[in-house]
Amino acid sequence: MWIMPEFVIQGGNRLSGDIAVSGGKNAVLPIMAASVMAGSPCILHNAPDLVDVRVMSEILRSLGATVERVNQGRSLYIDPTALSSWVVDDTLMRQVRSSIFLIGPLVAKMGKATVSYPGGCDIGQRPIDQHLKGLSALGVVFEEAHGNIMAETGRLQGADIHLDIPSVGATENIMMCAAMADGMTVIRNAAKEPEIVDLQTFLNSMGARIRGAGTDVIRVEGVEALRGCEHAVMPDRIEVGTLMVGAAITTGDVYIKNAVAEHVQAVASKLREVGVTVSVPGKGIRVTGSRRLRPTDIKTLPYPGFPTDMQPQMMALLSIAEGTSVITETIFESRFKQAEELGRMGARIRTEGRTAIIKGVPRLSGARVVSSDLRSGASLVLAGLAADGQTIVSGVESIDRGYERLEHKLAALGAKIVRQG
Ligand code: UD1
Repeated sequence: MWIMPEFVIQGGNRLSGDIAVSGGKNAVLPIMAASVMAGSPCILHNAPDLVDVRVMSEILRSLGATVERVNQGRSLYIDPTALSSWVVDDTLMRQVRSSIFLIGPLVAKMGKATVSYPGGCDIGQRPIDQHLKGLSALGVVFEEAHGNIMAETGRLQGADIHLDIPSVGATENIMMCAAMADGMTVIRNAAKEPEIVDLQTFLNSMGARIRGAGTDVIRVEGVEALRGCEHAVMPDRIEVGTLMVGAAITTGDVYIKNAVAEHVQAVASKLREVGVTVSVPGKGIRVTGSRRLRPTDIKTLPYPGFPTDMQPQMMALLSIAEGTSVITETIFESRFKQAEELGRMGARIRTEGRTAIIKGVPRLSGARVVSSDLRSGASLVLAGLAADGQTIVSGVESIDRGYERLEHKLAALGAKIVRQG
């Protein structure tokens, strides 16, 4: 019988020591999609070995690319020169939301793309209208039939595009497609996330002419052809944030060696507000927990606001603060799945639509809980580290989508956590 893996956590151990995080999941996925536009192979250093990355590798292989792990597994070699298909397999597409990124690059390279509606974490409705609007402006024509989206273009033409909301994925998809369009594209109200800057760096190394990533206006001057390149993927800022909260929730003392402080300012600022010490010695970040945690209010916002991907982890921390905190989730509508599970561990959390009210309790107690999506899973693991007794987190597959060997990293810092099954 196949037994689904679980994390078994013995709570109450402080995290302490030095650790390095993996390359960013949300950075590597669009970069892998962009690599199909290259006329020669690409090498991506610091590419995390995650389930989502494996699925994306499988998708690229199904299109005719060669994808291999090299450099003792730390880098990804992608040779797209034999790309022969523009049809993304439905089963693979449903496993990873980022497959939507392939529309822009495939259309730019092959003139066509067929994809189905993407999968990914179930955290509420995730429309793709901004992707379609931007790509349409570049001259892509869409047809929908039987759950498939068929995209086709003659010649791509640069355009002035104003996004209704600063969607990360739409900004990336449009940047990639515009990189090979005729003339100039301007993306206004663009998302400003650091992963977009990383994508710009990668595309420019391929020969693209893009500037403005990291601000809300991105300018893309189209080029005829792109070439392969080497690129080091940025460190995963959500993994950094998760470990920061890990140090805080266990009153630990952790130094994250390769954290980029600027990327996690919103998280650092909230941790300081609740009484945790965050400093930036050398190239990394040090977080030292405090026995007494103050409550605070958090509202998730696009970067540089507080990231929705860190909201569940902060909820775990605030559940043991001395007082009442309020979290408002403005990005995704059903992102409080962890609240009920934290409740099983003794947390007092009430959710009403997009608001969660958290009444801090002195201690959490170990329980059997289920991870339903990536970040709520991380939140339950963190709660388990702080709780009295044993916590068993099932649904670990959802955590593996976005954290590379999370249990190994936590164990290296002194946590008692093992994977079972
Ligand atoms: C990316 C991240 C994800 C993160 C999210 C917000 C990747 C692979 N994933 O997801 O981890 O939680 O940013 O920081 O980078 N929307 C529309 N129409 C669209 C696109 C989005 O209405 O066409 C809405 C979404 O429903 C959501 C908001 O815009 O409410 C933000 O979504 P978006 O920035 O696109 O997130 P993703 O790129 O899917």
